[in-house]
Amino acid sequence: MSDHEFGNVSTDLKLSLVEAYLSAFTIALRSQFSDLWYIDAFAGTGERVIKHKAIEAGLFPGTEELIERRRGSAKIALDIKPAFDRVVFMEKKKTYCRALEALKTQHPGRQIDIVRGDANDAIEAEIKSVKWAGKRGVMFLDPYGMAVNWSTLEKIRATEAIDVWYLVSLAGLFRQATRDRTKIEEKKRAAITRMLGTDGWERAWYDAPPKIDLFGVVDENVQRIADVEAIETFVEQRLSSLFPKVLKPKRLKNAAGVPMFSLFLAISNPGGKAIGLAARIGNSILKS
Ligand SMILES: C[S@@+](CC[C@H](N)C(=O)[O-])C[C@H]1O[C@@H](n2cnc3c(N)ncnc32)[C@H](O)[C@@H]1O
Repeated sequence: MSDHEFGNVSTDLKLSLVEAYLSAFTIALRSQFSDLWYIDAFAGTGERVIKHKAIEAGLFPGTEELIERRRGSAKIALDIKPAFDRVVFMEKKKTYCRALEALKTQHPGRQIDIVRGDANDAIEAEIKSVKWAGKRGVMFLDPYGMAVNWSTLEKIRATEAIDVWYLVSLAGLFRQATRDRTKIEEKKRAAITRMLGTDGWERAWYDAPPKIDLFGVVDENVQRIADVEAIETFVEQRLSSLFPKVLKPKRLKNAAGVPMFSLFLAISNPGGKAIGLAARIGNSILKS
């Protein structure tokens, strides 16, 4: 079996927030909808493996390496009660899909679909093949980096049926948008634009366009003026331009206190009742 070792201090927090939402979602909607779905587009293996390093004996007795297994999002979703009617796991890695297949066998009688491939392609295919009227779903977008295309978010929005928990990598954006604009590689520029669905980020995050001085010398050394706060706000504004409702995100930090991710909840259903319910549950969780 393939172990999936990932995460930092904020991973448990992230998963507990999503779990709290999934639980409140099925409790609130169970009596109104017969089709409640969960789609985990970056599903992993169902488990998170944490290796605690061995400690050599010194003044105190040493300890051996300890391997701890905690539930990942896939297992968490299958444990939700009342249960989702259908659960879809999407995952690129073959060995992780095998782990998900094994997880499926532990839940006989449940409708669990495992789709191997790129999440953007898998989401598009899934959304196209389904009539969304009368269905409600939650999708979890939990990529390592900047893998979710803006065009994928547009498709999710168009369902008017899916609430999306989206982990946005602030660290990824910060790294790709180098401090000195002349150092941004074309590939990285394209990746940011693909993720945000606009090239407007470059105007917003950098100082004025290159200046020509009195002697006609071009000063192209334009510096990024946007800090993490400004980058997060930009992402929030972009999501709010697409989804009827986007909640204030939860900032997730690493052990050193550096902001790494923002966890967003975006609601695709434009109905006042749906927004009211999702926002009430989501805000109580995000602000907790
Ligand atoms: C942060 S992990 C997800 C962890 C999972 N949510 C959990 O709690 O166990 C990201 C996962 O996405 C998978 N992945 C990476 N790129 C992908 C892509 N383009 N499409 C689908 N899956 C991808 C990785 O193999 C990895 O399992």
